[in-house]
Amino acid sequence: MNQWQASMPTNIALIKYMGKKPGQKNVAENPSLSYTLNDLCSTVILKEGDGNDGFEKSSQLNQEEQARFIKHLQFLKNQFDVTQKYQISSENNFPLGCGLASSASSFAALTECALKAFGKESLPASEKAQLSRQGSGSSCRSFFSPWGYWHGDKVEGMDLPYKNLIHHVIVVSKEKKLVSSSEAHQRVASSLLFADRPLRATKRLDLLLKAFAQQDWLRIKQLVWQEFWDMHALFETAAEPFRYITENSYKALLMLESFWHKNQDGPIITMDAGPNIHLLFRPDQQKMCNEIIDATRF
Ligand code: PMV
Repeated sequence: MNQWQASMPTNIALIKYMGKKPGQKNVAENPSLSYTLNDLCSTVILKEGDGNDGFEKSSQLNQEEQARFIKHLQFLKNQFDVTQKYQISSENNFPLGCGLASSASSFAALTECALKAFGKESLPASEKAQLSRQGSGSSCRSFFSPWGYWHGDKVEGMDLPYKNLIHHVIVVSKEKKLVSSSEAHQRVASSLLFADRPLRATKRLDLLLKAFAQQDWLRIKQLVWQEFWDMHALFETAAEPFRYITENSYKALLMLESFWHKNQDGPIITMDAGPNIHLLFRPDQQKMCNEIIDATRF
């Protein structure tokens, strides 16, 4: 029986995709920019099977997540008139569903693996990204490294400085989050802050690209900090508010702010839809990264 395997990395957005255009499948309200995290990967294996498309028994995914995965596989099969049935298995080398952007890598890996199984692996990355976007919006940026830029109906790499950043996550919690990012995309639309969100994100992206061009690390840090708070403010001001930031997330953020204040230097700090804190260091900041790891063990 034939089988195929593909691994794809996740990515962390510096300008966030949050909020979708109503009535369309994963069409973002605003452009987003991410750094690809090549050490945090999902691996998907597809085995030819008979019966229905389904999961191996040992899967870590719950029923709802499995259904979403199968739906995406079927969408991909329809695109290429494939009728073969498959058994899916999927694994991550990091915890699922706690703001480490697992949906990005898992849908990218499923897309890549299915295209291998269909003999379509040589499609251009931009086409693979568009297919993957239909399963999970953020996954489309994982097809480009180190920088992925998704704007309108285009996904592409971007030639920015800082190509070898060191990524570290302050893992505040490994618990699965109560509000999935799919649900967050729906709920933020009820916030009064949402109407102007595309404008703010677009402006901030513009300023961020200027800061990149000038290699102005402090300005990059400031803009990325403002951006994650902007997304978390949407959560907090939704008609039915919800949050991911916990007391320990907040403690770590305050500690990082005072670290920056004391040293006039530090990492880029961001949060996804989860309680954990993502840090990006320049290669010359390795020693600082070790110090921060020691100071933020929970
Ligand atoms: O791909 P989705 O639908 O799980 O969207 C997640 C979006 C965020 O991770 C919260 C932000 C982003 O741009 O990656």
